[in-house]
Amino acid sequence: MSEACCAEPAGDAQKEKELQQLFEKWRGVKGALIPILQGAQSIYGYLPKEVLLRIAKELKLPPSRVFGVATFYAQFHLSPRGRNIVRVCLGTACHVRGGARIFEQMQKELGVGNGETTPDLRFTLETVACLGCCGLSPVIMVNDDTHGRLTPDKLKGIVERYQ
Ligand code: FES
Repeated sequence: MSEACCAEPAGDAQKEKELQQLFEKWRGVKGALIPILQGAQSIYGYLPKEVLLRIAKELKLPPSRVFGVATFYAQFHLSPRGRNIVRVCLGTACHVRGGARIFEQMQKELGVGNGETTPDLRFTLETVACLGCCGLSPVIMVNDDTHGRLTPDKLKGIVERYQ
């Protein structure tokens, strides 16, 4: 019984069941840590601390090892992610065309910094090295949508489209 420090989202029983199934699936299998972390992240959307502790217990590994792996790989997220992922490109082509100003303004619009999520879980802000459409620089992506040839004043309107 743990005093949760933050409200647990609805559907916890279902998630708990899925986590148990995940443990069952990998029980006794060598090298199960990464696939279990991946599975747990797809269940919870990120890797809550208490889930990491449970994984450590299940695999009989020191928590420091589980936390070490979870923090080493960029694919794992230790805090909740927003419903919308905003990626601001800071690659060379975007940089020379004002990518830094776009990033600065986006931080102001969302009120969060790189790698952070808004308290209402609406947005997570990230930077990337290239989005593969340098001809449209400076570029951002919101989820799967590309927004190019940006100026800082266009960001407000873009952000408003995503709930
Ligand atoms: S550098 Fe920004 S899209 Fe390539």
